[in-house]
Amino acid sequence: MRLKHCHNFHDFRRLAQRSLPGPIFNYIDGGADDEVTLRRNTSAFDSMALVPDVLTGVEEVDLSVTVMGQKLDLPVYLSPTALQRLFHHQGERATAAAAEAFGTMFGVSSLGTVSMAELAARHKTPQIYQFYFHKDRGLNRAMMQAAKEAGIKVMMLTVDSITGGNRERDLRTGFSIPFRLTLGGLLQFAVKPMWGINYVRHERFSLPQLDAHIDMKGDSLTIGRYFSEMLDPSMNWRDVEAMVAEWGGAFCLKGLVSEGDARRAADIGCSGIVLSNHGGRQLDGSVTGFDQLDGVVQAVGDRIDVMMDGGVQRGSHVLKAMALGAKAVGLGRYYLFPLAAAGQPGVERALALMKAEITRDMRLLGVRNLAELGTRHLAGMAKQGARR
Ligand code: LAC
Repeated sequence: MRLKHCHNFHDFRRLAQRSLPGPIFNYIDGGADDEVTLRRNTSAFDSMALVPDVLTGVEEVDLSVTVMGQKLDLPVYLSPTALQRLFHHQGERATAAAAEAFGTMFGVSSLGTVSMAELAARHKTPQIYQFYFHKDRGLNRAMMQAAKEAGIKVMMLTVDSITGGNRERDLRTGFSIPFRLTLGGLLQFAVKPMWGINYVRHERFSLPQLDAHIDMKGDSLTIGRYFSEMLDPSMNWRDVEAMVAEWGGAFCLKGLVSEGDARRAADIGCSGIVLSNHGGRQLDGSVTGFDQLDGVVQAVGDRIDVMMDGGVQRGSHVLKAMALGAKAVGLGRYYLFPLAAAGQPGVERALALMKAEITRDMRLLGVRNLAELGTRHLAGMAKQGARR
């Protein structure tokens, strides 16, 4: 199977599985505990069905949205994800270039492997900086400052990861950062020679957002230990309120799901929230962003931008979220598997397929722009809110 034979998420996932050493594939693919929330993220979209309008005249469809003050050509953005150069040697450079080619926004993680400043200098398309709140306040201040200096458009603080989720696949494979070629790793190196050759031929693995502050050289760290040892579990609403004020621009919280927390985020001056359970990688058994979307949009949708992520594999998933009032939808594994499988052309093919699916489905739904979508386009809603 090659890139041109990939027609959906599952095809990209299979191709990635064939390219990547097992520990790395499982790090991307896996979730916490029994992976109930990981599975639910995608199946939640099936709890609602689309109700099309016909005969509306839909030659022209407009997929653009405005979210967090940014005008995007697509209602999807590339969520910040960690360690991308481990998945493919182009890493965040491929993600950013593909986002720009499609006129959308991309995120760079605190655990990113290319510096946000380099990407900001190279690309005009809006960039999110994903912030982890560390115990080391000096590091927090430095990251905030670096983001300001780089001209980052959107600050996104992750609030669901103050301790590491129980990712049993990683425990079994021994996945850690920096990725070490243990005996098992060496075996993988032999089984996936192309990945291995690319990994050693390109720039050394590094975490430019953190390197000046955290010494990763002596020790290797599991993602769980990074969360549990380096991040500050005492982080609270007062800390975030101070960060929002210090940032002074578009600021959103990622990883909350309740109406109460959504209200609180609006009260302290956040401009947006991402309903998310971290791709099912943190609290297993957690509700999904999609499940909560209707209630949260009704609670705060007139005050802040509500986004969601988790389990999005299809244009129809995006349209269901938009019909419930999401301002935009985040993609994670949806672009990471194509990245791992084929670098920038992979991410671009995945985005092209998503764009084509959304365009086709908008026509089939009888809507010309995304603002026309409302809850009247959905059947089977568990909670019947006010019809929009
Ligand atoms: C993860 C973090 C790093 O889910 O976002 O692995």
